[in-house]
Amino acid sequence: MKNLNRRKWIKSSLLGMGGLSLLTKGFADSMETAALSKISSQSRLVELNPGHFNKVPMRARLLANENPFGPSEKAQKAIAAAVAEGNRYGHGDAAYLIDLIAEKEGVSKDCIMLGPGSTDLLEKTAIALCRKGGQVISADPSYMSLVNTAQAVGATWQAVPLLEDHSHDLQGMKAAITSDTRLIYVCNPNNPMGSVTDAVALRSFCKSASQKSPVFVDEAYLEFMDNPMEQSMVDLVAKGHDVIVARTFSKIHGMAGLRIGYMVATPERVASVTQLVRSTMGLCVTSLKGAIASYQDEAFVANCREWNRTSRAYTSEQLHALGFQEIPSHTSFMIFPIQTAGKAFAQTMMDQGVGIRVYEIDDQDWCRVSMGTLKEMQYFIEALKTTQA
Ligand SMILES: Cc1ncc(COP(=O)(O)O)c(C=O)c1O
Repeated sequence: MKNLNRRKWIKSSLLGMGGLSLLTKGFADSMETAALSKISSQSRLVELNPGHFNKVPMRARLLANENPFGPSEKAQKAIAAAVAEGNRYGHGDAAYLIDLIAEKEGVSKDCIMLGPGSTDLLEKTAIALCRKGGQVISADPSYMSLVNTAQAVGATWQAVPLLEDHSHDLQGMKAAITSDTRLIYVCNPNNPMGSVTDAVALRSFCKSASQKSPVFVDEAYLEFMDNPMEQSMVDLVAKGHDVIVARTFSKIHGMAGLRIGYMVATPERVASVTQLVRSTMGLCVTSLKGAIASYQDEAFVANCREWNRTSRAYTSEQLHALGFQEIPSHTSFMIFPIQTAGKAFAQTMMDQGVGIRVYEIDDQDWCRVSMGTLKEMQYFIEALKTTQA
């Protein structure tokens, strides 16, 4: 039995033996979130190379959708200067960053919540809205932070498979809404598929679905798209819809290790989260000063978008020449089906210093590769060729 199939068999046996019924609150409390979500989530997607990779030195680190070009020089200077201010809390800087974001997004200041990365905001929102149980709806496969936390605090997950073109099945998601629905999560563009859901259709979905439940739109990769602001749902917040939009400085701003992100939602929705947890207390002055500098550095962001496009075009062309076919990517990563068993594939790549991710989705193994510099993408292609030998 292939490893993966064995894992699936164990998972389905567990569920068959009543694994789901074990997910009572007491049981949930006694388990780690990650372990719990592995049993309860039942995602179509199974990661085949979790763990270990952070310890190994790599010549091409293409496994966490990090931006190889950041942080910007302006951000680096601001961060270095901020170290000396580390004896003070960063409340003033946080207020200033909130002002900048509010102005750019066309919303009032009380619509903004900051956090150490958007993960923090995904999780805090899940805790605030799902802590009394209920249902959370999202696509499958998709990014799982919010759904995992929602399940860990007692919600059930209603997974709606992506459509054949890998976009969200918005009709299916709408049909899944019940009086029990506490939160709807949409990741656009979606991770790990790199695919996008049409903005016009999504806007109409957000408007109607948000009358029944808050809709959380994760726009972590939005800025890699052409005309990103036309694709964003943030204007719906200004119009009073119960839509929550999350963005991060980890991706296009190249500040993943500095941990800062923000969300934009109605003042009432922000308050429903901040009545439980604080917005700015988890932030360092270094990250705040870096974010302030980067947020205003439009040239850097535009360059990153362009460099990412160049790496994407090169990778796509090379993949096609080798007989691979990726899902068209609107992000800083790309996913494509592989014929080699995923775990062995990842190991062969890692042996050559190339870190990627491998997943199984519906009995097919896939490689997800983050866009690095052109040099890193060349290493990736060289290593990829050896998996075909
Ligand atoms: C779709 C999506 N949302 C959110 C995040 C979290 O990013 P961060 O916590 O660094 O802001 C990631 C990270 O890879 C992601 O892919």
